Amino acid sequence: MIFAIANQKGGVLKTTTTYNVSKALAEAGKCVLMVDLDSQASLTISTGHEPSEYQNTICDLLKKRPEKVEKCIYNIAENLDLIPSIIDLASLEMELMSRTARESVLSRALEEAAKYDFILIDCPPQLSILTLNALAAADAVIIPCKTDYLSYRGLEQLENTIDEVQDLVNPDLHIFGIVATLYEMVVKDHNEILDMLKEKYNVIGVTKKSALATKGIYDGKCVVERDPRSEIAKEYVKIANIIMKGCK
Ligand SMILES: Nc1ncnc2c1ncn2[C@@H]1O[C@H](COP(=O)(O)OP(=O)(O)OP(=O)(O)O)[C@@H](O)[C@H]1O
Ligand SMILES: [Mg+2]
Repeated sequence: MIFAIANQKGGVLKTTTTYNVSKALAEAGKCVLMVDLDSQASLTISTGHEPSEYQNTICDLLKKRPEKVEKCIYNIAENLDLIPSIIDLASLEMELMSRTARESVLSRALEEAAKYDFILIDCPPQLSILTLNALAAADAVIIPCKTDYLSYRGLEQLENTIDEVQDLVNPDLHIFGIVATLYEMVVKDHNEILDMLKEKYNVIGVTKKSALATKGIYDGKCVVERDPRSEIAKEYVKIANIIMKGCK
């Protein structure tokens, strides 16, 4: 099962959600591949590695004469693999625009990665050709969304794009769920927006704003690994359980 972790808004915890949920799935014994589809390479860096360390990256998979997918995959933990990204993805994105069937390049490449129980694609913060590639490759979308009004309204645009991809290239694509992020219980607005999100969408998790969540960023450890007993880590494990249950 392939998930796109998508939202065109920046800083809504797409990368953090991808890493923590993937880690929780891997710890539950599932074979997981994370795909860093953002030229900022935040996911790659979050895992404690430098993009330049890797001989092959997502660019080598998406270029005109691509490498075989297994040559772009690196093991980073037990049951957990990564296709890393690098800044060069920004220029490759331009090249991608001139290709035939340009939104299906990733989908075709991932067909060869059939051994995984779950593939999670960390999307960039735009509705770009890269995000379209993720949506075309995915079975379902997980949307991290901040609990503020503009983030809530921003979901309409993403839903329109998902509908379009569904109509044109990927009829089975659907929204698996929303993860409400950076929630602050003491902020009245956040509670109102959380209620609105729950009314309209399937909210599969709520993660609170917390300094604890960012502490391990220097040593490549996500909160699920570093602080498994924290409330935030437990929430990511809960989301992983919902995914495993929903995908049986
Ligand atoms: N629970 C949390 N509370 C506060 N900050 C957090 C929390 N979890 C993660 N962060 C921090 O929030 C920032 C943005 O997170 P992240 O990079 O996951 O968002 P993103 O949606 O992937 O961003 P972009 O749109 O740039 O790709 C990061 O610095 C991250 O370490
Ligand atoms: Mg990101």
